[in-house]
Amino acid sequence: MAIPEVGKKINVSVPSTTANLGPGFDCLGAALDLHNEFIFTRIEGGGDRFELKMESTDGNHLRGGPENLVYRAAQKVWASANVSPFALEARVKLAVPPARGLGSSATAIVAGLIGANAIMDSPLPKEKLLELAIDIEGHPDNVVPSLLGGLCLTARASSQRWRIIRCEWHHSIKAVVAIPAIRLSTSEARRVMPKNIPISDAVTNMGALTLLLNGLKTGDEELIKEGMFDKLHEPYRWKLIKGGLEVKEAALEAGAFGCAISGAGPSILALCKEVNGKKISQAMVKAWEKVGIASRAPFLNIQTTGSNFRSYPG
Ligand code: HSE
Repeated sequence: MAIPEVGKKINVSVPSTTANLGPGFDCLGAALDLHNEFIFTRIEGGGDRFELKMESTDGNHLRGGPENLVYRAAQKVWASANVSPFALEARVKLAVPPARGLGSSATAIVAGLIGANAIMDSPLPKEKLLELAIDIEGHPDNVVPSLLGGLCLTARASSQRWRIIRCEWHHSIKAVVAIPAIRLSTSEARRVMPKNIPISDAVTNMGALTLLLNGLKTGDEELIKEGMFDKLHEPYRWKLIKGGLEVKEAALEAGAFGCAISGAGPSILALCKEVNGKKISQAMVKAWEKVGIASRAPFLNIQTTGSNFRSYPG
């Protein structure tokens, strides 16, 4: 196993994600074309030395020395590859706003796994990194598309293994994501969910998921409209997102096929035709403005290539 020389650097680029896509709670997510960049450098010292340097003031959730997610992920790689931990520096350039439901924490986990692995010339295969990522995050719908790109459905199979299906996304379907200035932590958004749900809600979601996946595959707008809804988490979470339902309503009125809370929120995803995107974006921002919340609502393309790394400087 190659323990890297001091000074060796790896650059890792990781896309943001929109998880819980429509009825796909905790299983369906897509990568979006907005990335966090991480530069890992092997520095002098043992595995208890980890330095995180932020190139943004908005990354406080990633701080916290050895407890942070990048470092925790690196530790999993060392343990799985059976190597003695070594000191690392991670320099982070954040573009994905934290605590907005865009998978910012997942980017930290994925970067830590890929960076620690790549700097040792990749002893672990991608399948192992996926397994470790899901284990750290606790659910697969951010980390899997963040690693692989595209639209991914991840399910625990009868064998108890995680199985990943890359699903198709028709080029005519575009995504507008309204990102508010307010934050919401995933732990808070999970706390409001009940432990049990009615069986009728589970059945409804299974059907809706099938409709949505077929709509996204074929570009059938009616199927997307009919399948883009949820009964498992959204009914409990809208109350945490001030103005959220109004923003959804405004997007639908402006021509969106469907809307969903992005991840655990508070961002809201609208699926639409390109021609309606601008109108939908403006309507969503205006609806949030009405309740006193600033936001922006960019078009975000589906990112199909996932995370990548290269030696730095390339
Ligand atoms: N599926 C997760 C949740 C996504 O809704 O809690 C948030 O990271």
